[in-house]
Amino acid sequence: MSDASAPVGPYEGDPHIGRVVVSTDELRQRTAELGAQITADYTGSPPLLVGVLKGAIMFMADLAREIALPVEFDFMAVSSYGNATKSSGVVRIVKDLDLDLTGRHVLIVEDIIDSGLTLAYLRKNLLARNPASVEVCALLVREGLQKRDPDLKYVGFRIPPDFVVGYGLDVSDRYRNLPYVASYLADADDH
Ligand code: IMP
Ligand code: MG
Repeated sequence: MSDASAPVGPYEGDPHIGRVVVSTDELRQRTAELGAQITADYTGSPPLLVGVLKGAIMFMADLAREIALPVEFDFMAVSSYGNATKSSGVVRIVKDLDLDLTGRHVLIVEDIIDSGLTLAYLRKNLLARNPASVEVCALLVREGLQKRDPDLKYVGFRIPPDFVVGYGLDVSDRYRNLPYVASYLADADDH
């Protein structure tokens, strides 16, 4: 984890952007490590990467380029009922996959696991489609809050409880193109 630093680029001066939680360099380095690990694990049976929209797109784009195998892409969008900052575990599929999962090695690519409820739903849903396997690669896991064991094969970073934005993660669809992961200061005054 890095020291605090003021945001530069598109969010320069934005009082809601707090400390750097995962820097651009750390993202790049860890993504390369995960890609190498996935390459080794899936040699001979390249996975179908299933990105969970929209938060996982930056991570999936970078991760895929670090996997030295002919992977395929598909995407799913889910929305969880409940309020904006707490997952209820009741999930609705907003955009379903295009591809048939029968016999495929599926690797779910997620931005962040919080309660783990969204992932539990997704995993169950995808397992019902007769894939050869379903594993998960999560960029971030928020420490300590999972209600059930999320059984994650690949994890980028375990982070403290702060809500975070950047590198795909949003608040009301903002901040996704911040090039690193930062804490989000909800109470900061706009000026
Ligand atoms: P869960 O069902 O509680 O694990 O919620 C996971 C989903 O909530 C993630 O896929 C994100 O879309 C969203 N989420 C959870 N924490 C954050 C955060 O700190 N920033 C942005 N989105 C988050
Ligand atoms: Mg998400």
